[in-house]
Amino acid sequence: MPSFAESYDRFRPRPPEALLDLLVRMTGGGRPALVVDLGSGTGLSTRAWLGRAERVVGAEPDADMRTVAEAEGGAEYLAGDSGATGLLHACADIVTCSQSLHWMEPEPTFAEVGRILRAGGVFAAYDYDAVPVVHPEVDAAFEALLDAAKDLREQTGSISPWTSRAPLRKDEHLARMRASGWFRFARELVLHAVEDGDAERLMGYVRSLGAIETHRARLPLDELEATARRVLGDRTVPFWFGYRARIGVRDT
Ligand SMILES: C[S@@+](CC[C@H](N)C(=O)[O-])C[C@H]1O[C@@H](n2cnc3c(N)ncnc32)[C@H](O)[C@@H]1O
Repeated sequence: MPSFAESYDRFRPRPPEALLDLLVRMTGGGRPALVVDLGSGTGLSTRAWLGRAERVVGAEPDADMRTVAEAEGGAEYLAGDSGATGLLHACADIVTCSQSLHWMEPEPTFAEVGRILRAGGVFAAYDYDAVPVVHPEVDAAFEALLDAAKDLREQTGSISPWTSRAPLRKDEHLARMRASGWFRFARELVLHAVEDGDAERLMGYVRSLGAIETHRARLPLDELEATARRVLGDRTVPFWFGYRARIGVRDT
């Protein structure tokens, strides 16, 4: 039986290439000397930078997630918290938070991002919407499952595999970045990535969502699986993941 971290690594999406290209361009276009990925998890969002930067470092406090990342190799991983990476001042051209900023304490995180980014360096917090576009029937069943998980979370007060507090609202990231005072310019960008998927991937992806994992025994997972198997059969189809990125350029 694969661990949560192994399933996470297998079924979650990779960052859109267009976003990585765009971030490099926003720093001035040269090859980055260092990219730092905060909350690097199993390294999905960190490994994406290999071959695009001289050095790639992930910071991840969860030992299970970090172990999977280290087994894949390629990048360096620190056990650091987003508020204290131990990296040098102004060492990074790009700092990213992929699906992770909502778990972090904003003030120490922005202070650390501001400290390790060089002047003119770029910070990006990016997240995908939980439900990919697969097929209207499948998507509706998926949304119903997430609604049920949300209801259970409200009833039980249970939160997440990673923190003892509720996640922050992602649609407030941009306002918090602007208010932090660390960025001379910050904006939002929407984009998408397309990956191949089938019924098995869909169910693996669903089980890798913290909200589902926490309440697995009490959620109608079988109904979603039956819908996915009936609609998709054995076919592999495109899964469209919608992303929202909040990007800030470090003040000089
Ligand atoms: C949803 S995962 C995202 C992993 C990876 N970035 C990705 O895109 O697949 C969120 C990660 O943030 C990490 N995390 C939570 N709080 C953190 C903090 N204060 N500092 C650094 N990482 C943190 C968690 O341990 C978890 O691995």
